[in-house]
Parts: sequence; structure tokens; C-alpha cells
Amino acid sequence: MQGLSETMSFSETPSSAITPGEPPSRKGVLLIVDDEEGPRQSLKLIFKEDYELLLAADGPTAIGLAQKQRIDVAVCDIRMAGMSGIEVLERLKYVDPGIEVIMMTAFETTDTIRQALRLRACDYINKPFDVATIRSAVGGAMQRRTLESEIHTDAEKLQHMVSELQNQKIEEQMSQTRGEIYASVIHDINGPLTVISGFVQMMNQRIANSTRLEVEDLEFIKGRLNTITRQVANCIDISRRYLGFLRKNADDIPRVGVNQLLTDLSHQVQVHPALLENGFRVHTLERNMGLRMHGTDVIQILLNLAVNGFQCSNQPHRVEIGGEILDEPLDLTKFRDGPNDRLLNVENFQNTPPLVKLSVADNGPGMPSEILPKIFEPYFTTKGPKKGTGLGLNIVQRLIKEAKGALHLHTEVGKGTTFTIYLRGSPVTA
Ligand SMILES: Nc1ncnc2c1ncn2[C@@H]1O[C@H](COP(=O)(O)OP(=O)(O)OP(=O)(O)O)[C@@H](O)[C@H]1O
Ligand SMILES: [Mg+2]
Repeated sequence: MQGLSETMSFSETPSSAITPGEPPSRKGVLLIVDDEEGPRQSLKLIFKEDYELLLAADGPTAIGLAQKQRIDVAVCDIRMAGMSGIEVLERLKYVDPGIEVIMMTAFETTDTIRQALRLRACDYINKPFDVATIRSAVGGAMQRRTLESEIHTDAEKLQHMVSELQNQKIEEQMSQTRGEIYASVIHDINGPLTVISGFVQMMNQRIANSTRLEVEDLEFIKGRLNTITRQVANCIDISRRYLGFLRKNADDIPRVGVNQLLTDLSHQVQVHPALLENGFRVHTLERNMGLRMHGTDVIQILLNLAVNGFQCSNQPHRVEIGGEILDEPLDLTKFRDGPNDRLLNVENFQNTPPLVKLSVADNGPGMPSEILPKIFEPYFTTKGPKKGTGLGLNIVQRLIKEAKGALHLHTEVGKGTTFTIYLRGSPVTA
């Protein structure tokens, strides 16, 4: 009798009886699978008031019903012609692992029953069954199914909420990073822009009252224009670097030699407004070496540190930049964080020689130990409003971290401060 199925629905709750806002209580769906007409009909009589009933006279029909609609509990005869009850159980669980299946057994061996339980049948009852036993078995299974689907729904909701929260957090972090990047661009471009505006002003003054230009005037203007051109190129480089950050663009980095970078830096410092009456010296490397880092970034790091060195005191003092090549890995055990020292980015540091050590030292006032933990935080400054943004060291730290370098700071009140960076060296390619 393949394909026999009857559906009986007894939805008795009038829609007006449902309180608005409350989900309508759904009747449980009970599937009865038995190839004998007698037990099918008696089960129908027992449960027709309580559940939505589906009747199937064979396994394939039962599976077809389960594929079409949600079934909460199935009562399934073990011994059936064609597909056995065990097979039906297995396939029902395959269609929906949440279906609770109660097996009806007659003369089965304990092995078959064990097999059914192993296949996650929730219960078994013996035929002929009494009404109370089958009622309690089906009632229990229905309750479990409802609870399990509630738990499942709640878990899904929770999962949804967690991923929603994560998305929000990522969004927040991204906009924060974007904000930091914009602030960094402004910070880094500010130096060259000040130089450009100062030089334009100087040229204006020089030619303001002249009706014709002498050779010296032209020489003067040519010199200033050279510097301005270099500073504009610098601005373009900085903006490109940060655009690369935003687009996560890992450009093929040309390995510019450290000595050329130090010479470029020296030119930039000579025209920087922070130099004032202070002394400044750059010592180049004994043998040239490339760095696995964009040249603009190296200059930016050293320039930020040098400007900090100049700005740490109003009294004339000195800033010196030095370089050294280390052919051995750095002995990290020698560095201890303390009131005068800090070592940053140790966990990320690629301590593989050759290493290039670059230091920026000043003989200014030094830093009191209580501000050391704060100086790398974005927007921390002791320079007062309108003078410092507090982004310089944060940018320095981020660039060094990205290049997998390390940064050491040593400071002594009354003596001065030295920032030392360690970066992996590589052959020069540009
Ligand atoms: N060489 C130094 N000597 C003494 N204090 C320093 C030195 N370098 C940094 N600091 C301290 O660290 C603080 C943070 O430096 P950072 O470069 O991040 O910001 P800033 O220099 O204040 O502002 P900006 O870089 O925007 O001009 C400074 O305000 C200063 O207190
Ligand atoms: Mg600074």
C-alpha cells in the first residue's frame, strides 16, 4: 500500500482567542508510521484531539511527509514490510535530526531495540500498548521537542546577536582607524606645509617691492623653490602612504639606502621651523644598508623623533641622529622596562641580523617616569593645546610595529632622551 497517507488537522483555537503580541501556540505534529491499519486507526483515535496528525502506511511515505513539512514526533512500527522501522528512523533523523521518534516493538530482540536507541530513537513501547503508556511517551517526546527547538531558536538568536555585536565592533574599529589615519596625515603633512608656507612668505618679501629681479634674487628664489618642490613631493608621498594604509595596499617597497634617507632627513631638518637655535648632527652608517620599510616612513619616524627632541626645551640644546649596523641579533635580556627605560614591540620584533640601529638623542630635560606609560598613546601631549596633537610618537610606534622593528626609549631627567629603533636591514635596491 505504497503512498498512503492521510493528514488530519484539528486546529481548534479561534483566531480571536489569541492575545495580540503573543505568538499563536502551534499544535504539535505527530506522524504515525505503521503498515497495519488497526494500530494506525487506534493511535489516530487516541491523539486526534491533541495533535496535528499525519498517517503513513510505509517508510517512503513517512520520509516524503517529513521532507515536506515539520514533524515534531513520529511513532514508528519497527517491523514493517518494505522499509524497516529502523531504516525509517535513520532517514527521518537524516531529514531532521530534531524529530523525536518512538519505536513500537512486538517481538523484537533486545539487539534491535538497542540499535534503535543507538540511532537516537527517544523511546520504545511494546505492542499491544495501553493508552496511558503511549500518551505519556508521546507527551514527553513532544515536550522535549518543543524545549529543544526553543533552545535552538534562542541559541540562533544569541549567535545572531553576537555576530551583530562583532560587526558593530569591527565597524567602530574601522572608523576609529580611519579617523586615526586622517589625523596622522594631517599631523605628518603639517611639517612640510609649514616649511612651504614659510618659504613662500620669504620669497614674497624678497620680491614684493622690486620692479625687476637681480641675479641674486633669482638664485634666492631658485633655492627656495627647490626646497618647496621637495616638500611638496614629501606631502604627496605621505598621502600616498596613508592611502595605501586605507586600501591595504602592500606596494612593492623599494629598498632605499639608509644613508640617502639620512641625507634627505638632514635637508628636511635644516628647513624645519622647530630647529630654531638648536644644534643638529646626523652621523651616517659606515656601510650603507637598505631597510624593509618605505623610505618616507623611515624619514617620518626620525623626523617626528627629531622634532620632539627640538621641542622638548626652549633653551638651545642639541639633537643627534646616529646609525649603526648590528651583525648579531639583539640581546633582549639586556633591556628592562623601568623608570628610565621602555622597550616596545618586543613580541613582534624580527630579531634577525643584519639589523640597522638608528638613534635620535637630545640633551634636553628628559621625561619624568610617570609620563612614560602615556607618551605613545594617541593625543597625549604635554605641549598644551594648539602646540602638539600628541600623535607623533603614536605614529612612530605604529610604523615600527608594522615594519616588525623594535623601539627603545631611554630618558633621564636633567640629562636628556634617546629613542633607538632597530629595523631589519636588507640589500639596497633603489
Ligand atoms: N625628546 C623628548 N623629550 C622630552 N619629552 C618628550 C620627548 N619626546 C616626546 N616627549 C613627550 O612625549 C609627549 C608625546 O609626544 P608626541 O610626539 O606623541 O606628541 P607631541 O610632540 O606632544 O605632539 P605632536 O607630535 O603632534 O607635535 C610629548 O608631549 C612630550 O611630553
Ligand atoms: Mg611630537
